[in-house]
Amino acid sequence: MARINPNYSKLKAGYLFPEISRRVRVYQSEHPDLKIIRMGIGDVVLPIAEAVRTAMHKAVDEMGTLSGFRGYGPDLGYDFLREAIAKEYKARGAHVEASEIFVSDGSKCDTGNIQEIFATNASIALTDPVYPVYVDTNVMAGRTGEIDAEGRYAGIEYLPMHADNGFVPPLPKTNPDVIYLCSPNNPTGTVMTRKELTAWVDYAHKSGSVILYDSAYEAYIQDPSIPRSIFEIPGARKVAIEFRSFSKTAGFTGVRCGYTVIPLELEGTGLNGNKVSLHALWSRRHATKFNGVSYPVQRGAEAVFSADGKEQIRSTIGYYLENARLLREGLLALGFEVFGGENAPYIWLKTPKGVDSWGFFDYLLNEVQVVGTPGAGFGPSGEGYFRLSAFALRETVHEALARLAAKFHKS
Ligand code: MLT
Repeated sequence: MARINPNYSKLKAGYLFPEISRRVRVYQSEHPDLKIIRMGIGDVVLPIAEAVRTAMHKAVDEMGTLSGFRGYGPDLGYDFLREAIAKEYKARGAHVEASEIFVSDGSKCDTGNIQEIFATNASIALTDPVYPVYVDTNVMAGRTGEIDAEGRYAGIEYLPMHADNGFVPPLPKTNPDVIYLCSPNNPTGTVMTRKELTAWVDYAHKSGSVILYDSAYEAYIQDPSIPRSIFEIPGARKVAIEFRSFSKTAGFTGVRCGYTVIPLELEGTGLNGNKVSLHALWSRRHATKFNGVSYPVQRGAEAVFSADGKEQIRSTIGYYLENARLLREGLLALGFEVFGGENAPYIWLKTPKGVDSWGFFDYLLNEVQVVGTPGAGFGPSGEGYFRLSAFALRETVHEALARLAAKFHKS
């Protein structure tokens, strides 16, 4: 008798994005002639930068020679990539050592897996709405009770973000062991200011919490006063872990590469009240469960930090941000209340009065064949909101806006 992990039965429905794809597939099979515009999942569409491709080709060729062939790579990533990343942090005024960087296959996996190094009964706080991976992985690990009628799991402290508080999460009330934050935020597209982030770091020092800071979208920050890393904030090295990704920065959603930074001085508390290095725990976990990112991919990632790579990537990010600007302004002109999209590739809008977020999803799919992501899929406070991704070709953005204008024009 193979008994299953009963925590899985607490999960509500399927994971958000496959569920959206399923609904879109059903609709498309019933309406094969209609062209559906997909702005749901944040998946990049522009090709990989030339500097990155060239570096990958070269690395593949090296692998075809006796002297250049490489088998298993170093556990935590090749030094050439970890050093390039650390150099970039330093250039931006954040203290991160190469030895504190763990190269991985992306921040979805890292933000999902990191909870393994905390106690099985560790208390969790997270923003609402939130990237569903943080919630679901804690449910799977048994850190929560059942879900209630509104979609909140017992045992998690939800920190609501909505238009009335400017999407700034309130500080927790429960002194949680672990706090998940994300800026630029997925899904709201809003960013945390230096002052707000400083308040979180100060709070974590007082409460003893560890902040899990997801900055997968940092490359989209245009405002120089907004921190791109939590390690720009004094004191953060003692309270935070940061996750970053090449996915949205450099078009790696299919290539897969990301990294996690755990400062050497960051500690958790053991069973006897003893202090334990979280870096050491994650190293142990990484070495046991992960065999690294392929050499050609790590060489490609390294090229992201070259002069050519930086310039080419800036242009791609500029393209997506221009899409975001067009969407923002187009939707505002149609009378929607719109948030985000200035330092992030996501637009967060209020659904029309009286229409809930899945209702709006169905309406847009059926009436104009535009797919977005219903806010309720990101948590109860996402109800009444809807996310559109700016990862699209320019003509797609124009067409989506034209279709929306046909339905929502102001009279
Ligand atoms: C999203 O659409 O929220 C992201 O693409 C999901 C992810 O990065 O895993």
